[in-house]
Amino acid sequence: MISNRMHEAINAQINAEMWSAYLYLAMSLDAAEKGLRGVSNWFRKQYDEEMEHAFKFVGYLGSQLAKVELKPIDAVPATWCCAKKMFEETLTHEKKVTAMIHALCDIAAEEKDYATANFLQWYVAEQVEEEASAQEILDALECVGEDKAAFYMFDKELAARK
Ligand code: FEO
Repeated sequence: MISNRMHEAINAQINAEMWSAYLYLAMSLDAAEKGLRGVSNWFRKQYDEEMEHAFKFVGYLGSQLAKVELKPIDAVPATWCCAKKMFEETLTHEKKVTAMIHALCDIAAEEKDYATANFLQWYVAEQVEEEASAQEILDALECVGEDKAAFYMFDKELAARK
């Protein structure tokens, strides 16, 4: 069994993962409206990943016989000026999520909750990937600059994300 403190913290993290999903879905919809099909696809896949993150926590609470509390999900923005702004916001957001995961690890360590500490390692590794992929896309956008043909190829590449 996990402590009440850990239980509440994981319930809050489920909400945060769902908020992330909501954020990326909004970016996907906005990108589609702007005609950026690849960017839209990338964020749609990111939405799926965030829901998977949330459901992993849901499954873990179930395995610990702890009730999942679905709290209201705060509203997210609806529009961004451009793809670059979306990815900048993504990187900033993922850094925040990394800090949240590390805070959960701190609770697990303080409470000598070895099972949760072990479970959280998947998220620790995942956050390294999440930050790296946002950074890689921002680096690519830096190279693209104002070149419209290069941006077209960039968008096409993002369309391939499965
Ligand atoms: Fe669930 Fe993108 O962190």
